[in-house]
Amino acid sequence: MMAMVVMVMMVVVMVVTQSSASKSPRYQEPCDITEEDPDGDCFWGEAGVDYPVFAYPPATSFSCKDVIPGLYADTEASCQVYHICEKSGAQHPFLCPNGTLFHQEYMVCDLWFNVDCGRATAFYSLNEHIYSGPRQQKLSPAARYQ
Ligand SMILES: *[C@@H]1O[C@H](CO)[C@@H](O)[C@H](O)[C@H]1NC(C)=O
Repeated sequence: MMAMVVMVMMVVVMVVTQSSASKSPRYQEPCDITEEDPDGDCFWGEAGVDYPVFAYPPATSFSCKDVIPGLYADTEASCQVYHICEKSGAQHPFLCPNGTLFHQEYMVCDLWFNVDCGRATAFYSLNEHIYSGPRQQKLSPAARYQ
């Protein structure tokens, strides 16, 4: 009897889980077309006009040979591209998601209107800190995992 009740409950749980999964909203809903977002892609401004929409990092003259290891916005690719320059000299280009550009000062992809790509090179020197090793802080073992 008890086993029967448990089985019925399991079936109910499975059915409920499945139906709620199929009803969950899609991750990306298209946005309404407005004056601020004329293409309805959920970003202020117009794709390809206000911000670049590369599908792949384009070839540019940026080279890790010219810089110290670190992360670099590629100004020739309107800063949608950034390069990771390894200590070994290896160069890896990455693309920020559409609507975002690489913010050299904070070293993250940020919304395009927060990024002044023209100033990116002025912050290249922040890479001097990137591989300088962990800060020597005296933390308790517990604090290290917070
Ligand atoms: C940006 O949008 C263009 C055009 O819709 C698309 O081809 C490209 O793959 C997108 N890039 C990224 C990084 O999602």
